[in-house]
Amino acid sequence: MIPRAIIAGTGGYLPELVLDNDSLAAKYGLDTSDAWIRERTGIRQRHLAAPGEKASDMAAAAARAALAQAGIEASSVDAVIVATATPDSVFPSTAVRVQALLGITQGFAFDIAAACTGFVYALSVADAMVRAGQCRCALVIGAEVFSRILDWTDRGTCVLFGDGAGAVVLRAAEEGEAGRGVLSCHLHADGRHGDILQVEEGILKMSGREVFRHAVSKLASVVDEALAANGLAKSDIAWLVPHQANLRIIDAMGRKLGLPPERVVVAVDRHANTSAASIPLALAEATRDGRIARGDLVLMEGIGGGLTWGAALARF
Ligand code: COA
Repeated sequence: MIPRAIIAGTGGYLPELVLDNDSLAAKYGLDTSDAWIRERTGIRQRHLAAPGEKASDMAAAAARAALAQAGIEASSVDAVIVATATPDSVFPSTAVRVQALLGITQGFAFDIAAACTGFVYALSVADAMVRAGQCRCALVIGAEVFSRILDWTDRGTCVLFGDGAGAVVLRAAEEGEAGRGVLSCHLHADGRHGDILQVEEGILKMSGREVFRHAVSKLASVVDEALAANGLAKSDIAWLVPHQANLRIIDAMGRKLGLPPERVVVAVDRHANTSAASIPLALAEATRDGRIARGDLVLMEGIGGGLTWGAALARF
């Protein structure tokens, strides 16, 4: 029988420097306010990488935490997949650098570029590879230093993002673990909308309203698709762990699923949008503080540049 892939551990890393909205506005001389940012996005603060701190450094820290929680040694990992839009370099990939930082010499490593949907894409690829028998224990990581691609004079974008990394350990299910694991992943892309959220000459550019318009409808439809594929109802979902871009989008999705706010994991208020890192960072918080428990059905969803969007269902 084809084994399912189980999320055996989660971990997160956030850089030390924290800037709240007022400090950010003061530091960069932005014509904005804490009230405007909170009201439109729910963001209160963000973490920013130190000079020289790279995506691979943060990814390795998150991965170490995930391995520790899973009780798995780095020597058992045979795949490292990093979702990032802000890699250390074009090559070697950030995943290969993480492999080296963790002392892993077996297996394979590569990056995935799907912007803010990167973690869902990476989870989907890793899940398929575990089930196909190409690896048994994968580190699936989202790591971003968006602070390096922001225009700090553009108040419409620079207030929205933060830096960080999140990781999960995905391993083949063993006997007695039936029912647990990734149930299915659902990926989409539509390159016709590439220009509404893109990096041009190294700087992020976004039509916020356009992105917002696509977000709610596309996320609602991919969530329905994920539930239907598994014969599940909205009421079966124990936790929604959405991409953390904007509290208004998160709230809209929670309402659409009929979930009470306490069943929706929110980190955007403290992390801002950490792109591919946002879902695994939120997962790490909610598994560590005991909210997400063994047996819970967790729905993850996200949308980002491309456009790309997707959802994944997993039973913990
Ligand atoms: N502080 C104060 N005013 C700001 C501002 C800021 N940080 N950023 C933009 N504004 C101003 C604009 O200049 C504009 O002013 P104008 O009317 O004088 O031209 C006004 O606010 C409205 O701008 P608009 O972009 O239409 O605002 P909005 O209500 O759409 O909110 C976002 C902007 C970015 C918060 C919102 O569009 C959004 O959340 N979009 C989704 C973005 C997202 O999630 N991206 C990542 C996806 S992975």
